[in-house]
Amino acid sequence: MPGREAERRGALCLGLLLHALLGCGSAQPPAACPAPCECSEAAKTVKCVNRNLTEVPPDLPPYVRNLFITGNRLALLPAGALSAPRLAELGTLNLSGNHLRAVEAGALAALPALRHLDLSNNSLVGLRNVSFQGLVRLQSLNLSDNSLGVLRNGTLAQWRGLPALRSISLGRNTWVCDCAIEDMVAWLKESDQVEGKEALSCAFPEKLAGRALLKLNTSELNCSTPVDVPSQLQTSYVFLGIVLALIGAIFLLVLYLNRKGIKKWMHNIRDACRDHMEGYHYRYEINADPRLTNLSSNSDV
Ligand SMILES: *[C@@H]1O[C@H](CO)[C@@H](O)[C@H](O)[C@H]1NC(C)=O
Ligand SMILES: *[C@@H]1O[C@H](CO)[C@@H](O)[C@H](O)[C@H]1NC(C)=O
Ligand SMILES: *[C@@H]1O[C@H](CO)[C@@H](O)[C@H](O)[C@H]1NC(C)=O
Ligand SMILES: *[C@@H]1O[C@H](CO)[C@@H](O)[C@H](O)[C@H]1NC(C)=O
Ligand SMILES: *[C@@H]1O[C@H](CO)[C@@H](O)[C@H](O)[C@H]1NC(C)=O
Ligand SMILES: *[C@@H]1O[C@H](CO)[C@@H](O)[C@H](O)[C@H]1NC(C)=O
Ligand SMILES: *[C@@H]1O[C@H](CO)[C@@H](O)[C@H](O)[C@H]1NC(C)=O
Ligand SMILES: *[C@@H]1O[C@H](CO)[C@@H](O)[C@H](O)[C@H]1NC(C)=O
Repeated sequence: MPGREAERRGALCLGLLLHALLGCGSAQPPAACPAPCECSEAAKTVKCVNRNLTEVPPDLPPYVRNLFITGNRLALLPAGALSAPRLAELGTLNLSGNHLRAVEAGALAALPALRHLDLSNNSLVGLRNVSFQGLVRLQSLNLSDNSLGVLRNGTLAQWRGLPALRSISLGRNTWVCDCAIEDMVAWLKESDQVEGKEALSCAFPEKLAGRALLKLNTSELNCSTPVDVPSQLQTSYVFLGIVLALIGAIFLLVLYLNRKGIKKWMHNIRDACRDHMEGYHYRYEINADPRLTNLSSNSDV
């Protein structure tokens, strides 16, 4: 009996030991939460809010699907800041209110699951260097409350190419209504991706401040390229040359078509000339013949 008891206790001990060993092997160390942030593994959410952060914490827990880094001082989002392979499941990224002035080309790469991107309330002046390529699941993009002056073809083409993107917010930016905004206005007119596009309005120039982008007239954007005088002159010389050549060709054509008439006319002129000349000749001969002169003088007498 005591032997069996000891056997049972030994088995239990072994079981516990095994459990502990296996447990140690399989369970990962509790995922660390970056010091300035609040993490909820259950909600798969990390929030780093109003912490004066100047960079994205490098040690984000691997479960994160919703990342809020708002009200900090990132200023620049460098390439690779968010491209850790473990962010492959990141679905919501909120970078609102970070005084962001630039987002480098590779900063948003490798986020294939991203659906919602909030870049609102920052200081972005342009998106020329920002790449949205590869965000194949992106549904909403918030760029309101920035300092955007214009969107270029490159950016517009990227957005057109994102299959899931259906909501872009562009309100409260500083759109500059000069010639460069034509492409953006054309895109705006045909796009159904932009939230409240009727409300977007010019901030500059002063003359157009408050004017709705959709109601801009091309003629107001002063797009005519100034033509320098020499080239204008050159153009007019070429034009003059062409006109003269045309007139010449028409003249030759008329001559050709009318060649019989002209021949006849020439003959007429020749005949007329001959008659005239003969008349002269005759009178000359009369004057020159002394007998006749005498005759005429005699007759006078
Ligand atoms: C952030 O900076 C401001 C001013 O520099 C300071 O007043 C505030 O306490 C700081 N916040 C944190 C969370 O450190
Ligand atoms: C992002 O954070 C800002 C500030 O906290 C908030 O107003 C906004 O609704 C958030 N955006 C999303 C998509 O959650
Ligand atoms: C915009 O960001 C600034 C600076 O982070 C913050 O003080 C302000 O509350 C934010 N505004 C909104 C509407 O979230
Ligand atoms: C975009 O962010 C601004 C705050 O900056 C908010 O007022 C607006 O509702 C957001 N737009 C969308 C579509 O979430
Ligand atoms: C864009 O990138 C170019 C070269 O990479 C750089 O010279 C320029 O300053 C950048 N522009 C902005 C607004 O970041
Ligand atoms: C932008 O694209 C449109 C057509 O998609 C083209 O007509 C226009 O010339 C382009 N603008 C620039 C500045 O390349
Ligand atoms: C813009 O053009 C439309 C038609 O082309 C015209 O009716 C309208 O008056 C113009 N607006 C301004 C401010 O010139
Ligand atoms: C366009 O040019 C005309 C004449 O140069 C000027 O009076 C007008 O203010 C300009 N318009 C804008 C919107 O700059």
